[in-house]
Amino acid sequence: MREIGVGLLGLGVVGSEVAHILLQRSERLSEQVGASVTLKKALVRDLAKRRTYPFPPELLTVNVDEIFNDPSIDIVIELVGGEQPALDYIRRAITGDKHVVTANKEVIAKNGYRLLSLATQHEVDLRYEASVCSGIPVLSPLQQDLAANEISAIRAIVNGTTNYILTKMAREDLPYEQALREAQELGYAEPDPTNDVEGIDAAYKLAILASLAFHTPVRPSEVSREGISNLDPKDFTYAHELGYAVKLLAIAKQRGETLEARVHPALTPLDTQLATVDGVYNAVQVEGDLVGTLVFYGRGAGGRPTSSTVVADVLTIARNIAMGGIIKPRMELNRRIPIAPMFEIVTRYYFRLSVADQPGVLAQIARVLGDHRISISSVIQKELDEAAQTAQIVILTHPSVEQSVQSAVAELAALPLVNRVGALIRVEH
Ligand SMILES: NC(=O)c1ccc[n+]([C@@H]2O[C@H](COP(=O)([O-])OP(=O)(O)OC[C@H]3O[C@@H](n4cnc5c(N)ncnc54)[C@H](OP(=O)(O)O)[C@@H]3O)[C@@H](O)[C@H]2O)c1
Repeated sequence: MREIGVGLLGLGVVGSEVAHILLQRSERLSEQVGASVTLKKALVRDLAKRRTYPFPPELLTVNVDEIFNDPSIDIVIELVGGEQPALDYIRRAITGDKHVVTANKEVIAKNGYRLLSLATQHEVDLRYEASVCSGIPVLSPLQQDLAANEISAIRAIVNGTTNYILTKMAREDLPYEQALREAQELGYAEPDPTNDVEGIDAAYKLAILASLAFHTPVRPSEVSREGISNLDPKDFTYAHELGYAVKLLAIAKQRGETLEARVHPALTPLDTQLATVDGVYNAVQVEGDLVGTLVFYGRGAGGRPTSSTVVADVLTIARNIAMGGIIKPRMELNRRIPIAPMFEIVTRYYFRLSVADQPGVLAQIARVLGDHRISISSVIQKELDEAAQTAQIVILTHPSVEQSVQSAVAELAALPLVNRVGALIRVEH
């Protein structure tokens, strides 16, 4: 039986599980592949650090050259994370004619196309299924099983940390800061949560999903982004009364000759599957012209779910090597669809105003909205604070242009009778 050597960069949350599976299930995996798949070395920073499993000491190294210079290593798994040195490591592996598997969304979102071209030149594979939604296979189905479809839209919950926080806020009426603190205590949120709560992580994943679904390069910097830190638990209650859940959605949609690519909190109808995705779970809803609507659902983070996908990528490459097959990494970005500016999008909006409890206030609000050609679908007055003589007005609009809504909200905020615009959240049907 031919031996296929594997080198692992990183032995942290995901790397430890991947190494454990490759070592523990080596016989079964080798039978599946028709070649022996052998983990040769694992790169770490600190040899003395306590690991999740008792790995043989000779497996570990702090010298990356031991992996790149070993001709018996055919596949390099990058699980170091972050942009650098991960990007350099992946480039070095490819130019050394080694196949690569990575779970690194930042590197793939920013450099995927260039890395795949480099891999093609070197006739090696580069697989990255775990970079989006970890254990949920979604990139491969998009590229293979749905290849006959024209995809019209992707709506996804791709960040478990923010979904956990939003679920807590909705169920327990918690303020954002407290829900975040609880997520941090449970290890679901990093001490510095910026990447998650500001939608940066979700934008990386959407850039990868949208590029593959629409066959056009979408850079993370082109994805419009708004985080969850300004959300108020009040709006979860009011949204629920109106028939919606509040979710951080990653949305990519073909609109005419352009593509919308945006990450922001959105009111999601309660009778849709996305509204029922709670806690750290992820879901990707894909609309194809042939297949209709599909939803991929599961655990979007964690060492074991991610290792399931990473090892599957390793096995695919190993099987191809064993069969002597031609390996060609795929990212068919043969279209150039411009990204629509955010101010052009058309959707429905929810907003909440804190206003003086005086006659004529609704008429003033209606006039401003009318001036901006925004038509109201419903208005509800909530929470009369008699002492402060203020009321909360919740407004749901019909489909309106983002630019008009932003201008109207700025004008409303300047009205003497309006104390504050408490929330402005887009609605996604
Ligand atoms: N965790 C998840 O749930 C999840 C889900 C999907 C995708 N991913 C992706 O998977 C990748 C790995 O994530 P993780 O959670 O496993 O990260 P992690 O727990 O922080 O592990 C990183 C590993 O890389 C090693 N490392 C870091 N910098 C290094 C350097 N400069 N030189 C040598 N080794 C270095 C660390 O060594 P030491 O152990 O010695 O410090 C550690 O073993 C990331 O790209 C992440 O985005 C993670």
